[in-house]
Amino acid sequence: MADLQATARAHTNIALIKYWGKKDKNLILPMNGSISLTLDKFYTDTTVEYSPSLKKDHFFLNGQNKNDQKLAKFMDIVRQKTGFNSYASINSINHVPTAAGLASSASAYAALSLAATTAANKHYTKTELSRLARRGSGSATRSIFGGFVEWIEGQDDESSYAKPLRVNTDWDIRMIAIVVDSKPKKVSSRSGMQTVVATSPFYKGWVSTANKDLNDIKEALSKNDFQSFGQIAENNSLKMHALNLSATPHFNYFEPESLIAMRVVENLREKKVNCYYTMDAGPNVKVICKNNDLNVILDELCHYFPSDHLLVAAPGPGVKLLDN
Ligand code: DP6
Repeated sequence: MADLQATARAHTNIALIKYWGKKDKNLILPMNGSISLTLDKFYTDTTVEYSPSLKKDHFFLNGQNKNDQKLAKFMDIVRQKTGFNSYASINSINHVPTAAGLASSASAYAALSLAATTAANKHYTKTELSRLARRGSGSATRSIFGGFVEWIEGQDDESSYAKPLRVNTDWDIRMIAIVVDSKPKKVSSRSGMQTVVATSPFYKGWVSTANKDLNDIKEALSKNDFQSFGQIAENNSLKMHALNLSATPHFNYFEPESLIAMRVVENLREKKVNCYYTMDAGPNVKVICKNNDLNVILDELCHYFPSDHLLVAAPGPGVKLLDN
């Protein structure tokens, strides 16, 4: 008999080579492979408790009852895969500093995948969990693993999953999340990438160069070459944002402060401080640097942003079960 209840923790990840477009919307198969870093600072804890008496799933986020169609659909996939047919009560707590605006579906679906399968008494491998988490949100496929992670594009449900990248760098990497704005996104990643695939005249160029970027960044990682690593990540991020500007209707995630943050990083580079930036589907800028350079960069950023809007993260672990 299943234990009926389990709690799991998963951390968010930030893509260095971005996923921005699907070739299969139902299975969430990406147009290109991607690479990310899982972060220690931001995570989601999720408890799933199945109860034969429930007539539907109930979802609470930070204690508040939510009606979430994406999540209900995902739980149907879990039931189909595990063969365990009860509805569940799902309690998620996002451990993201208040107003950071960094809450992500990546940590949410990674934690839910482990908690929902374990509560159904199924013990999936991390590869199986990665395939399952992908069905909730593409970026969640990578949050199953810690550190640097590659999502292998694949051609079908079986072949599209993430794996950890074994790297031997001596960088002691850090990411500074600059919190620019905490309002809800104007355009969700799901609909933004869909508009881009359907309308950007540059999309073909994105796919072919994203695959090259992926191979080049892996080479930079294997050669311990931080400068190339950072430059490739920064260029890849800007290319993604350029797609958004070239879509119909066009959209973008930049706020004036995002552009200021980018300029500060570029100016620091001119002063020979090794730092680079990346941005996802929101206005917050993440600065990629080595721990050694952290204080110099923070000192400079403090002239432009309140210090409590500068959140420093290090590489974080993969998904794990917590004691109930
Ligand atoms: C810009 O994983 O949120 O963060 O699969 O539609 O749920 P869905 O999208 P999502 O998109 C993430 C986009 C990104 C880049 C990335 O994480 O690779």
